[in-house]
Parts: sequence; C-alpha cells; structure tokens
Amino acid sequence: MKNFSVLFISIILIIIYEFEECSSKKDVKIEQIAGPYICAEGPHWDEKKNLLYFVDVVGQKIFCYNPETKNITHTYLKNGQVGVAVPILGKNNEFLAGSGTDLVRVFWDTRVDDKGPRIEIISKVDVGVENTRFNDGKVDPKGRLWAGTMGEKNYVPIPDKGSLYRFEYDGTPTKMISPVDISNGLVWSHTNDSFYYIDSFAYNIVVYNYDDTTGGIYNKHTLFDLKKNNIKGIADGMTIDRAGNLWVANHGGGLVFQVDSKTGKMIQSIAMPVSDITSVAFGGPNKDILYVTTAKDKLNETQLQEQPLAGSVFAVYGLGISGSPMLSCKIK
Ligand SMILES: *[C@@H]1O[C@H](CO)[C@@H](O)[C@H](O)[C@H]1NC(C)=O
Ligand SMILES: *[C@@H]1O[C@H](CO)[C@@H](O)[C@H](O)[C@H]1NC(C)=O
Ligand SMILES: *[C@@H]1O[C@H](CO)[C@@H](O)[C@H](O)[C@H]1NC(C)=O
Repeated sequence: MKNFSVLFISIILIIIYEFEECSSKKDVKIEQIAGPYICAEGPHWDEKKNLLYFVDVVGQKIFCYNPETKNITHTYLKNGQVGVAVPILGKNNEFLAGSGTDLVRVFWDTRVDDKGPRIEIISKVDVGVENTRFNDGKVDPKGRLWAGTMGEKNYVPIPDKGSLYRFEYDGTPTKMISPVDISNGLVWSHTNDSFYYIDSFAYNIVVYNYDDTTGGIYNKHTLFDLKKNNIKGIADGMTIDRAGNLWVANHGGGLVFQVDSKTGKMIQSIAMPVSDITSVAFGGPNKDILYVTTAKDKLNETQLQEQPLAGSVFAVYGLGISGSPMLSCKIK
C-alpha cells in the first residue's frame, strides 16, 4: 500500500513538473543590469573572457560588463558617436569600432575606465555624404566586420542616406547594400550560406544567399513582415540561437521576438519593460542569458516618466534557449 502511494505521489509530481516545463515562459525573469544610458546598442558576448560589451551610441562610449562581479567599466571616444564595437581576434584589449563614419581601432584595458583611449583610424565610409553615422555591425563567419550607417540629424533619422559595408582584413570598406535607411540586424546562418538583414524602416527582415568564401550576398527575399504580424514600431538589432532561430529587437513596440529563420513564422515574443529595444545577444557562461539593449533618445517627457528604465541593458533569464558563439574580428 505504501509503495502505491509513493508511486501515486511520484506520478503527480512528474505531471506537475511536466506542466511547469510546458509553461516555462512563466519562469522568464527580466533584470536591469546596467544603465540607463541614452542609446545602448550592439551587445557582444566575449566567450573567452566571459564579458559583455555594448555601446552607448549618443554617449560615445563602449562599455564592459562583468556578470560575475557586476562591475561595469567604459571608455569614451571623443572621435564621435559609437555604433558598434567588437573585440579583435588574438589581441588583448583591442577593439574595432565604428565611430562617426570612421572605422577605428581602440586600445582599451577593459578592467578600468579610460576617458581618452588611444585610437587609430583605419578607414572612412560615406565619404562626401553628410549627416550619417555608423549604426549596428557584426562579424561574419570568416571574421570580417560588417557595419552599416544611417542618416541622422538632431536625433531624427534621414531616410535613404545609409549603406551597409563589409570590411576586408586590411580595413578597406566594400559597399554591400545601398541606400539603406537604418542599417540593423545582421545575422549569418549556422550553415554559413544565408545572411539575415534589417533595414529598420522597411518594416521587415530580409534574407540573402551568402557566399562564405567571397563574402558576397545575392538573391534577396523577405522573410518576415512586421506589419503583417501586427508588430508596432520597427525591427532593430538581431541575433541567432543555437537552433538557428532569429531573436529580434523591436524598437517602438517593446518586444523581443523569436522568428523561425526558415519559415519566417513568429515563434514567441517577450514583453520588455520599455518600448525602444535596440538589440539582443546571448551571453553568460552557458550563453543562455539574453542580453537586451534599449534606448531613450526617441522618447518624450511623458514616455520618459512612464518608462524610468528606458535606456537600460537588461538580462532575460529562464528562456531555456541558448545562443551560438559571437566571433571576434580579424584585422591586420
Ligand atoms: C570596477 O569598475 C570601476 C569603474 O567603474 C573600475 O575603476 C574598477 O577598477 C573596477 N573594479 C574591478 C574589480 O574590476
Ligand atoms: C560556419 O562558420 C563558423 C565560423 O567560422 C565555423 O565554425 C563553422 O564550422 C562553419 N559551418 C559550416 C557548416 O561551414
Ligand atoms: C509623447 O509620445 C506619445 C507617443 O507617441 C504621444 O502619444 C504623446 O502625446 C506624446 N506626449 C507629449 C507630451 O508630447
């Protein structure tokens, strides 16, 4: 009899456990880990050092967050606004950054704040074009940095002025897509044959065939349409999880959503405590924490009062999903 009740209780416990598993979304926890800043962007997980880098575009800063100690350090680039910063492969404390319209190498010891780091200008983009700046960027499977620009004056975007560039190992820019409104997204498939891209004011996510050897992209298709999926605002930064699905930052709608990269179907969405989500990246020792950057530069007084955490960087725990490694860039 006793054995029967033990069995019975075990079965009940298993059922409860399974139910918890199914409703795992309830266990999702969102925590503010840094900020608020003006326009946090470009999260990048450094898996060798277990550190998260991100930028404040308007604040002209690169940040380094250590999840173990919770310490945050930063460096300030007087050169101009910083749209993207990624670590350089095989170097300690060297970053490649898009600052203003310059591609720069930044020498920064991330253990300390540095308000005047040594920088070297490697190349320039949008030469002869006024009022543009680097926005988001990512490293491709071969270690080349891709970074795009956008038109902007007094925080107001100017359409059709930006371009997406691929940087060769010597820093030479190759124009890949032009014109673009706000260059964003940037993800490569695990099979290294597809490239996912977001031009924010196109209100969609597009996919190109990608040639890993030449770095060429061709054959553009729309994968996901925000308006058809009733998503307010625009798509911003994007990352990919281990299963190959896309995670997209929704600027203006306050969501982070997951899209099947093959079918273009939305799988799930997570409501964030602020409206202007700028980018996402998986990190943490198991790469199962989703780091989410946000901005407040487009909010008015009323919205700022309603969203005191706008501009913060958040950690989303408990998704039960992990990401793939983010690559450092190769540069001569
Ligand atoms: C923590 O960050 C501060 C800057 O905010 C820096 O000066 C200090 O060295 C850091 N401490 C550690 C233990 O990394
Ligand atoms: C894709 O590129 C990554 C990074 O270089 C590499 O580790 C991986 O093996 C490549 N995958 C395939 C299927 O070629
Ligand atoms: C602030 O922006 C919101 C959303 O666009 C708008 O509804 C509201 O009227 C604005 N408030 C002010 C004071 O401008």
